[in-house]
Amino acid sequence: MKKATSLSELGITDDISKAFFRPIQSAAPPSPSKRRTKVSVIGAGNVGMAIAQTILTQDLVDELALVDAKPDKLRGEMLDLQHAAAFLPRTRIFADTDYAITASSDLCIITAGARQIPGESRLDLLQRNLDLFRIIVPPLAKYSPEALLLVVSNPVDVLTYIAWKLSGFPPNRVIGSGTNLDSSRFRFLLADHLEVNAQDVQAYMVGEHGDSSVALWSSISVGGVPVLGSLERHQIEYEEGVLEKIRKAVVESAYEVIQLKGYTSWAIGYSVASLARSLLRDQRRIHPVSLLAKGFYGIDEEKEVFLSLPAQLGRGGVLGVASVHLTEEEAKRLRCSADTLWEIQQKLGI
Ligand SMILES: NC(=O)c1ccc[n+]([C@@H]2O[C@H](COP(=O)([O-])OP(=O)(O)OC[C@H]3O[C@@H](n4cnc5c(N)ncnc54)[C@H](O)[C@@H]3O)[C@@H](O)[C@H]2O)c1
Repeated sequence: MKKATSLSELGITDDISKAFFRPIQSAAPPSPSKRRTKVSVIGAGNVGMAIAQTILTQDLVDELALVDAKPDKLRGEMLDLQHAAAFLPRTRIFADTDYAITASSDLCIITAGARQIPGESRLDLLQRNLDLFRIIVPPLAKYSPEALLLVVSNPVDVLTYIAWKLSGFPPNRVIGSGTNLDSSRFRFLLADHLEVNAQDVQAYMVGEHGDSSVALWSSISVGGVPVLGSLERHQIEYEEGVLEKIRKAVVESAYEVIQLKGYTSWAIGYSVASLARSLLRDQRRIHPVSLLAKGFYGIDEEKEVFLSLPAQLGRGGVLGVASVHLTEEEAKRLRCSADTLWEIQQKLGI
């Protein structure tokens, strides 16, 4: 795809730069070890562009490549971001429909996805997304064989499994954004109620992203104080039903945004940028993300499913899974989600 209208096209020669800067004599070539950090975002829709702009404002990369199937929309988005150059850290932004542009990426973020057609079953939608991933994942793996893959498109858990299979990458390098966003919504609701900073609320939603996500009540703390233990110590009564209502409110808050504005974008943009930071900058922070969950918390070793668990993320991808305490009920729900996902994957035949 054509570069942003360059001045040379308008008749100004490259020699003009010599009028501004005189080259330093006998300068050594740049060190080969000084690599540039590159992220590719596949799908320049609402979610892809929110992620791209959050990554840019947070100064996480040197190069950003955008890929989409619609060339005009893609070029428009690229130019719109490039035109903010005067207000942003310097980042080279490219866009093309050809995956060659993603070559040597450190991180590839997939947000492209087919939308549900009225009357279409979830399985049919999944089949269409599988066909889409057959177009997207192999070239990404070919052009960036060492990259980390981060899947955002829905249904994120099954599509992360599909991306893992199609890429041939080791499982630690294929991650789904999973319940990182659900957990952030959960933390917001609790923080809002308690009038504290959401960053001081430790709370995880795990399992399947969306309707059947599991809230880990036993591990919620605010400023290091366990919430359930504190309620019990102060003899504040609560009913189990109340906890389930709060979990449902977290799930429904996503539907409310979609109903009101048609899609979600800002929160997923920040959520994915926080994952990108932990991965690219080797932050070793714990995030609930979708990972190959077989063998964890009693999930059958034979069931190759991706589900969200609190994972430590760094430059190597998933470095480990935190051993949080799960009640028997929470573990049961997790295994139930694993069974459902496994059945769906069998129907897809991949
Ligand atoms: N995991 C999460 O927490 C989370 C949150 C929000 C949205 N999502 C998901 O993110 C996805 C994107 O949502 P959106 O609102 O941006 O949708 P959108 O329709 O605005 O964008 C999708 C983009 O993908 C592009 N695309 C389609 N086929 C392509 C191909 N073969 N190659 C490259 N690009 C292609 C489309 O042209 C479009 O620009 C959806 O699957 C949505 O459900 C996930």
